[in-house]
Amino acid sequence: MKYQIACIPGDGIGPEIVAEAKKVLDKIGSKFGHEFLYTEVLMGGVSIDAYGVPLTDEALETARKSDAVLLGAVGGRVGVDSWYDLPPHLRPEAGLLAIRKGLGLFANLRPSYLYPELKKACPLKESIADAGFDMMIVRELTGGLYFGNRETKEVDGVMTAVDTLTYNENEIRRIVVKAFDIAMKRRKKVTSVDKANVLDSSRLWRKIVAEVAKDYPEVTVEDMLVDNCAMQLVKDPAQFDVVVTENMFGDILSDEASMVTGSIGMLSSASLSEGKLGLYEPSHGAAPDIAGQNLANPIATILSAAMMLRYSFDLDQEADAVEAAVKQVLKDGIRTVDIMTEGCTQVSCSGMGDAICDRI
Ligand code: IPM
Ligand code: MG
Repeated sequence: MKYQIACIPGDGIGPEIVAEAKKVLDKIGSKFGHEFLYTEVLMGGVSIDAYGVPLTDEALETARKSDAVLLGAVGGRVGVDSWYDLPPHLRPEAGLLAIRKGLGLFANLRPSYLYPELKKACPLKESIADAGFDMMIVRELTGGLYFGNRETKEVDGVMTAVDTLTYNENEIRRIVVKAFDIAMKRRKKVTSVDKANVLDSSRLWRKIVAEVAKDYPEVTVEDMLVDNCAMQLVKDPAQFDVVVTENMFGDILSDEASMVTGSIGMLSSASLSEGKLGLYEPSHGAAPDIAGQNLANPIATILSAAMMLRYSFDLDQEADAVEAAVKQVLKDGIRTVDIMTEGCTQVSCSGMGDAICDRI
């Protein structure tokens, strides 16, 4: 089969890590008889430099016409890169929001898994790390505060800013259904996170979760307040299987969930639409401080490519092969600098890509 992939290397370490993910995809292609065709698309700071906007209509159209999108990272340093002198809607991150909305990528899947080989990197107590954890954060990605009306104006002589948090029942239902479907393929537990003791949008969220849950009698479901969830993530992360929540809570909790693995360079993500089109990117950012030095850890991007194989192309066996190769690399003691520990062998970004290809 042939698959058309829109590649967005983006800024900072983006180009280096995307190159390694392509290398791994090509290895999968030659081993399993698929052809991956790449079209390069500009987004973020590099697009601002070239066209004055973080995402052009043409770039969005190219992404829309492809079977999947592979993204490195976008963004730079506030106060250093001139991109941040522009108004907010023209900055690199606006490109990310525009592509999410433009492609209807409402479901953001962020796995957080403690690799046994990297247990020492876990910042939690040894007894908690020993229990391990493996959760999937399912974050609503095209609604809520991120896309509600906002404005800053003077009211009675006082500067006032408003951001609006809106959800309708359809937006809630489709993400909750997605979370339950994912739970059915995992340990069959859904934790729905909200702030129903304060927010109307959360009370509607809770009502829809209860309705959807009726269609999944095998799944255990619990509602959890977001402040409690933030606590539980460091106290007992092993309790979580699938966590589903709205856009802003998901943004915050997914950073926390990734930090407790101690190795953000390992975490992948997928952003899915109603159809098969998805966008796949590492959970980490553009890391401009180490860009261009062949030091970055490409594993999160490579694992994102594995999610692409699984969710957009239905190539489960091929996705398994990539994930198994990553596990083997870790077992063999091969490490990039961010996850390096004594007794292991340190490799570069491209060295890691090669080591993973060798094990496929
Ligand atoms: C993320 C990022 C983005 C978000 C930023 C860069 C707009 O933090 O993907 O989590 O808040 O969604
Ligand atoms: Mg974030």
